Amino acid sequence: MAIMGVESVIFGVDDVDKCSRFWRDFGLVDLGSDERTGTFEVSSGSQVVVMRDDDPRLPPRSIEGNGIRLTVWGVDTAANLESLVRGLETVVEVIRDDQGAAFFKAPDGQHVGLRVWQKRAVVSVADPVNTPGSIKRLNQTRQWRRRAIPKTINHVVFFSPDYVGSYEFYRDHLGFRYSDHSKGVGIFARADGTYEHHSIFWVNSDLPFAPDGHGFMHIAFGLDDIDEVMIGANIMEKRGWRNTSVNSSGGISRHRLSSAIYYYVDNPNGGEAEYHADTDYLDDNWVPRAWSFKFAALMWAARIPPMFAGDDIPWEVDFDADERSFEAFRKGRSNPHQAELDQMTNDDEHAI
Ligand SMILES: [Fe+2]
Repeated sequence: MAIMGVESVIFGVDDVDKCSRFWRDFGLVDLGSDERTGTFEVSSGSQVVVMRDDDPRLPPRSIEGNGIRLTVWGVDTAANLESLVRGLETVVEVIRDDQGAAFFKAPDGQHVGLRVWQKRAVVSVADPVNTPGSIKRLNQTRQWRRRAIPKTINHVVFFSPDYVGSYEFYRDHLGFRYSDHSKGVGIFARADGTYEHHSIFWVNSDLPFAPDGHGFMHIAFGLDDIDEVMIGANIMEKRGWRNTSVNSSGGISRHRLSSAIYYYVDNPNGGEAEYHADTDYLDDNWVPRAWSFKFAALMWAARIPPMFAGDDIPWEVDFDADERSFEAFRKGRSNPHQAELDQMTNDDEHAI
């Protein structure tokens, strides 16, 4: 069976007009908007749908304020979707629509859907990169871009009151693969039909800046490179979309875990929207790792929070194919990093 990634997300929002304008400025293709609904698309065919938060088509509210109310994963074939549904029906109630899509509520509170999806191939060309000792682009400029054009929805991020349990549900019932564990902070996992480092990340809702229980944190879109990320960032700033929330405050940054370059923008649809480039791509030969969260967080950032900036951060990471690192972080156990995690402030959120 193969889940090919996020087929669509549906945001419940208080201001459809403003939230739709945000996605147009962000670079998504507008498939049609009115005062109650906006529908947008990226190159892969994944869609972002914006609905009034009282729209009866939305699932019951499980988060505070604006945010993703439903995440629909795209399945490659109808037979594979039926196979997933048979397994899910043993543990949760599954509702079907008349096109065969399946919907359920995960134990951590997320509303989730499955739909057969023909993911479109993405056309994307990387510029060769020069270094002082390795000339890959001779007598050739880099591409000149007018704007950012998001190609894919790379991942969605939710707060979870039991991030180990959230991952295990997706592993056992949706075939997700364990990518990495930032110990005490959260688990990254990949849908089995994708190569992006992670399709979903569950963040520990015990962190000082997290909401109580289930919540939406951000959604990330794949771009070609750092140029496209920063052209998008410049356009968003010029159009009045600011970076004032804690998760957006670091500016352009690169994680060590996943290697990804990222830039968050405050999102009126809820949480943040992320421009994302040059992430690690994985297949089933990847060996998952368990990381010290301070080492995992950042390679560099425009504005690095003090907690992640020290020269004394140990290079601490272990292979973790057997998921041995999970045990100490299960719900109800006392988190061995709790004292350090309690020192986190709102300024640290953008680094994780
Ligand atoms: Fe992200």
